[in-house]
Order: sequence, then structure tokens, then C-alpha cells
Amino acid sequence: MLKDKSLPLRQGATNLVFGVGNPDTKILFIGEGPGYWEDQKGEPFVGNAGKLLNSLLQLIKLERSKVYITNVIHHRPPNNRDPEPSEIAAYALYLDKIIEIIKPRVVVTLGRFSMGKFLPGVKITAIHGREFSINWKGKETTIVPMFHPAAALRSTEVLRAIKEDFIKLPEILNRVKEEPKGEQMKFI
Ligand code: URA
Repeated sequence: MLKDKSLPLRQGATNLVFGVGNPDTKILFIGEGPGYWEDQKGEPFVGNAGKLLNSLLQLIKLERSKVYITNVIHHRPPNNRDPEPSEIAAYALYLDKIIEIIKPRVVVTLGRFSMGKFLPGVKITAIHGREFSINWKGKETTIVPMFHPAAALRSTEVLRAIKEDFIKLPEILNRVKEEPKGEQMKFI
């Protein structure tokens, strides 16, 4: 990936920001893309949004080192602008590889860009915190869409919502660990 010259945001970025955490985890968190601090340090969610993510993980007693965290795109877009569809498509090759390696039972999407990968055409305000059981490349996977932590830093309502949604995660995780793997694609 470091050598892949086709990646569109490569030129303006300081570091590749791939992913961090335990590849043996059952739960994968996917954000949008690196911001300033992530670009500087080469690690996802280490700036203000990352601090909030850490405190949300602490709230449910889930250690950051025991989950895996990545983004839809792995280089910082200029001035933190939204990623373009063509950029999302270019980095999808690598995100798909991460998903294939981790084989998560639960994917928490943080924000609308990662949500759109699994649940196209839905509105985050309508469906955040709900569970969607999908067949992702032959594997039953539970998607839990959540607001982006950066949005929660700007709005107390969104902060309340993201906390309530995080609090649901331990029960979801316990349940999916026990459930046998199925084939069906269903919305819960
Ligand atoms: N926001 C994201 O979506 N990802 C990061 O890694 C940091 C901030």
C-alpha cells in the first residue's frame, strides 16, 4: 500500500494511516479518514475525535487495544475535506482487505461515509444505533451505524445519541459471539 502510486490522496499526506488494534477482534470500527493529528502520527483517531472515541470505549469497558479501528480512506484529504466517491473507491481495495483479514462479527460505522459502504441510501439520523444483519462477501456481519465522534463534539444531542448507541454494544457483542453463523440477509 505504501508503494501504491495510484492512491489519489497520497501526494498531500504526511503518513499512511492504515489501522490500529487487535486483528483477532470481533468488532471493527470504521471512521471516515485521517485528520491533522492522524496524518502526523500515522494512527487513526488520535486527535479530538479520537479522544472522544477513547472515552466512549471506556464507558463500555472495551479496551482500545482489543478492538480494531480504521477508516474508509487512509490518507488525509486536503484541508480535511470530505472524500470524493472516486477516492472512497480507490481506498476500498485496502479497506476490503482489512475486513477480509479481521473477519469482524460486528462493524461499527462512524459517520455517513463508512455507513454508506454497507447500508447505501439510508439516513444516519433515522437508523443510528440499530443493528443490521447483512451478508458481507459471504459472511453474516452485524452493522451498527453510529454518528461520527467529530459530530458529537459539535452537538450535545449527537453526543447523547452516540453514548446511548455505544451502551448497546456489549450486549450486541455477547449475542453475536453465541450466535451460529448464518446465510440470511435481514434487517433487524
Ligand atoms: N476522524 C476519522 O474519521 N478518522 C480518524 O482517524 C480521525 C478522525
